[in-house]
Amino acid sequence: MSGPGAGSGTAAGKVALPGLLEAKRRGEKVAMVTAYDAPSARLADAAGIELILVGDTAAMVVLGLDSTVPVSLDEMLVLTRAVSRSARHALVVGDLPFGSYELSDEQAVASAIRMVKEGGVDLVKLEGAGRMADRIRAIAESNIAVMGHVGLTPQSATRLGGFRAQGRDARAALALLDAACAIEDAGAAAVVLEAIPATVAAAISARLTIPTIGIGAGGACDGQVLVWHDLLGLTPEPLPRFVQRYAELADEIAAALDSYVADVRSGQFPESRHTYTMPAEELERFQAALAARERG
Ligand code: KIV
Repeated sequence: MSGPGAGSGTAAGKVALPGLLEAKRRGEKVAMVTAYDAPSARLADAAGIELILVGDTAAMVVLGLDSTVPVSLDEMLVLTRAVSRSARHALVVGDLPFGSYELSDEQAVASAIRMVKEGGVDLVKLEGAGRMADRIRAIAESNIAVMGHVGLTPQSATRLGGFRAQGRDARAALALLDAACAIEDAGAAAVVLEAIPATVAAAISARLTIPTIGIGAGGACDGQVLVWHDLLGLTPEPLPRFVQRYAELADEIAAALDSYVADVRSGQFPESRHTYTMPAEELERFQAALAARERG
């Protein structure tokens, strides 16, 4: 394991934000994963992962919604608090949900402040460039570290024509490069590049001084991010082509639940080792009292 603050294979110490820039300069890759609760944050931390994103993908993978659009800032804050309480090593990134930053710089700063004060995050993330680069500047000037996000931005998937790769012609690729540069100029500490050609992501990563974190953006990005449930085999097929499953936990969970149900129905669970006893004299007293009560 390498990377900023990852030490020699342990999860000791908090990752420092400047360490991400140094890692980029040294050519060391960083790993980011999403998490939405305390147990997964603890596991990600123990693995030495540098960045935990409490993504608004929570809307789809945890809250059962069809898109990321409906999730509210209050809902995100509940999940974010659970993660930030448990992450001792990784930097925690809180996603600003749709509707919590678009209206004005003031709204964006107010939402970012809530994420930091109530959610306990180290950075906030928001999607888009153009006017959203102004939001990034306003938040960064309020002394809150910001991560940008360009390419496929799920909060505006309808406008982009669905969940599809972006920047696949020269004009769109140049627009993406300009957007990423504007985000860096606005003071972002890092930027997510989602679902764009690897060649375009490589050009952006080479031009920016801040780290690029890719998802479906090829191996030249300075880091990679995957959604927890995709990585661990907890989301049903079909999956985007950029997902690599590292486990099939849904199958393991299904098998475990089948065994549990069978044991409950057959009486094999619980066994005596799962139950509590009482001292013999208390049991005698209890039985005598019961018998007396039943005699009337
Ligand atoms: O919300 C999220 O999980 C994200 C990642 C896919 C980058 O934005």
